[in-house]
Formats: sequence, structure tokens, C-alpha cells
Amino acid sequence: MKRFPKKRVVITGAGSGLGRAMSIEFAKLGWHVCVSDIDMERAKTTETLVSQQGGTPLVIRCDVTQPEQLESLADSLKKQWGGVDIVINNAGVAAAGYMEKIPLKTWDWIITLNLKSVIYGCRAFIPLLEKQGEGHIVNVASNAGIASLPEMSCYNVTKAAVISLSETLKVELNPKNIGVSVVAPTFFKTNLMDQFTSPDPRQREMANAFFDKSKVTSEDVARHVIRAVKSNKLYVITQTDGKFSWFCKRMTPEIYFKVLSWIYRHGLGERYLGMPKTA
Ligand SMILES: NC(=O)c1ccc[n+]([C@@H]2O[C@H](COP(=O)([O-])OP(=O)(O)OC[C@H]3O[C@@H](n4cnc5c(N)ncnc54)[C@H](O)[C@@H]3O)[C@@H](O)[C@H]2O)c1
Repeated sequence: MKRFPKKRVVITGAGSGLGRAMSIEFAKLGWHVCVSDIDMERAKTTETLVSQQGGTPLVIRCDVTQPEQLESLADSLKKQWGGVDIVINNAGVAAAGYMEKIPLKTWDWIITLNLKSVIYGCRAFIPLLEKQGEGHIVNVASNAGIASLPEMSCYNVTKAAVISLSETLKVELNPKNIGVSVVAPTFFKTNLMDQFTSPDPRQREMANAFFDKSKVTSEDVARHVIRAVKSNKLYVITQTDGKFSWFCKRMTPEIYFKVLSWIYRHGLGERYLGMPKTA
């Protein structure tokens, strides 16, 4: 991590799951870690873990749906640390459902939490990184933004947009010496289902089954992210199944969607998860 001698990272949604795991991995490398979350109890637990692992924690409450709170987070880090090296827009939620049955308020909720939050984070921190003349932004998207699995439209849309935003920023911020990475994991077990919502209980069951099948941990994903940031990679595709769908969709997009439609029509997803076919 020679690019970041001051070792300062801020992570939103750091009170749980991937955010907590990244906090701990940075702590092991001796970083200053700003643990930011809306849930202070969870953030405090991460704070303790960061200290135990050799990092220097700083807890700041931030609701990522409020742009002024992200601006105030950036101001606080400027005052307390003199700046920040890596900004990780990680906080997010999940939802599912048939497109036309997902309530509009769920669409608004998930677009705000998964997409607008990243826009707010980038807007708040880019001027600071620009002034410093260096820095790195990591946006946590999902393989959902690439694979476009059925019955997940509201989640897929937000994550695809985060990928597009990150690709754009990769080029736009290059002359300013600011690196950009976008993380696209497939399923791994966290507390993401706590706030999960869907109009049909079957979708919750399916999501739970996907999480239960995953052998990958938040720690695995966190270590992958840190390796990718070290080498200034744009795409952080953390799991083998994600690499496979990313490759197929890029190389043969028409075939990819024909095969996916066939799998869906024949209920092979349910069969893979050991569930009865109902779609
Ligand atoms: N777990 C997976 O399988 C998976 C797969 C792909 C992508 N992701 C993405 O990883 C990111 C982290 O998710 P996770 O799986 O660790 O989930 P998680 O629920 O374990 O952690 C999310 C954290 O975000 C916080 N949060 C929620 N609303 C917030 C708000 N308004 N402001 C600030 N913080 C808020 C929560 O308190 C929680 O600590 C998300 O963007 C998610 O979409 C997760």
C-alpha cells in the first residue's frame, strides 16, 4: 500500500458484514479506520474489533441517505485526520420481487440507499481528494448489477448504476490522480437479510437459500477488495461464479440471456437451491 503512506480509510455501513470485515482487514495493516454507520451500537462493536486488530478507529455516525451527513463526514475527516486516502461507499440494502409488484416506495427506498448514497458519497469526497492531489474511491456494487437475475430488478438496477458511475469516474478522475474501484460480489453471508423486503415470501426463501449455499465469507471478500485497491483495479469481481457470469455476459450477451431465460423458465434455480418450482 505504498500509494497510501498515511493509511486513512473511511467505510460507510461499517457496523456489519462486509463493512466490518474491511475495517478489520485494514486494522490488521495498521490503518486509521473511520467506522461509519447509521447504527451506532454495531459501529461501536466494529470500533472495538479495529482496536483489537491493531488499527486506530474513529466512529462517526452517518446516514448515507442524507447528502449533508456525507458532507459533514468529509469535513470531520479533514479536521481530525487532515484528509483521507480511501473512501469506501459500502452501505446498502437488498430487495426483490416481480418488477410490477415491487411497491414504488420500495423502489424509492432502494434507489436512495444503494445508488443515491454512492452519488452523495462521491460528491462529498471528490473535492477533498482533489485538493489532496490523490486518493481512491471504492464503490460497493454487486454481481447483481452484471448478471441481471430475474425477480431482483430493483436491486439489479441500483447496482448496475453504481458500476456505470464507477466506470465513468475511473476516467474522469484519472487526471486528478484519484483511483476508482467497483466491487461486484455474489452472495456471501452477512446481515443483509435484516432489512430485506419482497412482496412474495418465496423470494426471501430463495435469497436465504443462496446465502446459505455460499462458502465465501465477508473476510474473503474484504481481503480481495484490499488486494484490488493496492493494484488500482477497476473491477473487483470477488467470486468464481461472479467471474463466470461477468465473462459470459461480456463475451456472448445474447447467448447469456437466452441461457438465463431457459434456466429460469425451467425452474433450475429452484432445483439448484433444493426448492419446489413455482415461477
Ligand atoms: N452480502 C452479500 O451477499 C452481498 C453481495 C453483493 C453486494 N453486497 C453489498 O455489500 C454492501 C454491504 O452489505 P452487507 O452484505 O455487508 O450487509 P449488512 O446488512 O451486513 O451491512 C450493511 C450495513 O449498512 C448499514 N446501513 C444500512 N442503512 C444505512 C444508512 N442509511 N446509512 C448508513 N449505514 C446504513 C447497516 O447498519 C449495516 O451495518 C451492500 O452495498 C450490499 O449491497 C452484499
